[in-house]
Amino acid sequence: ISAEKGGFKHFMLKEIFEQPRTTADTIKGFISREYTLPVSLNEFRRVLITACGTSYHAGLVAKYWIEKYAKVPVEVVYASELRYSDNPINEKDLVLAISQSGETADTRFSALAAKEKGAFLVSVVNVVGSALDRESDYTLYTHAGPEIGVAATKTFTAQLAALYCLAVSQSPEREQLMAKLLSVTSLMEEILSRAEDIRKIALSYSSAKNMLYLGRYLSYPIALEGALKLKEISYIHAEGYPAGEMKHGPIALIDEKMPVFVIAPRDRTYEKILSNVEEVLARKGNVIAIGFEGDEHLRQKAKDVISIPHVEEDLSPFLTVIPTQLFAYYIADFLGLDVDQPRNLAKTVTVE
Ligand code: G6P
Repeated sequence: ISAEKGGFKHFMLKEIFEQPRTTADTIKGFISREYTLPVSLNEFRRVLITACGTSYHAGLVAKYWIEKYAKVPVEVVYASELRYSDNPINEKDLVLAISQSGETADTRFSALAAKEKGAFLVSVVNVVGSALDRESDYTLYTHAGPEIGVAATKTFTAQLAALYCLAVSQSPEREQLMAKLLSVTSLMEEILSRAEDIRKIALSYSSAKNMLYLGRYLSYPIALEGALKLKEISYIHAEGYPAGEMKHGPIALIDEKMPVFVIAPRDRTYEKILSNVEEVLARKGNVIAIGFEGDEHLRQKAKDVISIPHVEEDLSPFLTVIPTQLFAYYIADFLGLDVDQPRNLAKTVTVE
């Protein structure tokens, strides 16, 4: 078993460290034009994304990219909610179902129902030949390889890679954008080489009972994903929130016992999120932040800062998610929990 883990203590840690390669493998599939979607996204009146769990968070990130590059409105709906809604789906919709396993019942059945109503069904799956793969009009594959840890890590970044490639597929700058995307994998490597620093910071939060994760724009879904990872494997209650919404509720919870994890790359929302950090500090909250190297503003405010290399706005999720994965992993391992097989969770949920 330890050989299968390649010297890592858990599959999850091995899979976190595989991400530069699995992300690159996924991108290369698109650069080589292994896939040519028979339709173009902007032929449709909207793209309706449906998924569960971590795959849903990948869909939330993709919404920003597709709206920016393909200029089509995107709606992202949990598969378990879409199925029992009256969402008016027809042949003018492209439904994008995202599922690592391709076997998640909620995702499959929502996608199939949409297809029956006339939508064009595209899926993003990691398992070739899975049910959803077979049921879709077209499939985009992530090349992450088998994922053993129940908490999804490398399949999330592979989904992001596939979705980014899909979003830019009709752009005149497609080639340059994909080349830039590929270069991000060496920056992922840099973050992983500093895992020990993240471990030290994480351990100082291992006795927290609750945590709040905040982000805006592309970092908002990463806040949701970071909180999900922490809940799943460390059993610490965590909530992800769009930072701008904090004042409408979660701010009431902030005190010195509630660490706030802020994802703050220098993007179009950076100044806004710095004021959100101030609001937390004013309530005696402790902030742990992910920010760009050399960000002195953030360093002056936050108790702990996890630095990531500079990257253009669009691509920050590929970098910001890694520290959140490592943070959750190191806490769960420190607490002696079964990281790869957390209680009550299954890798693939084939029942409704
Ligand atoms: C389960 C897994 C999650 C996963 C979700 C969706 O809950 O524990 O890690 O994100 O299912 O799985 P899928 O295979 O559809 O991406």
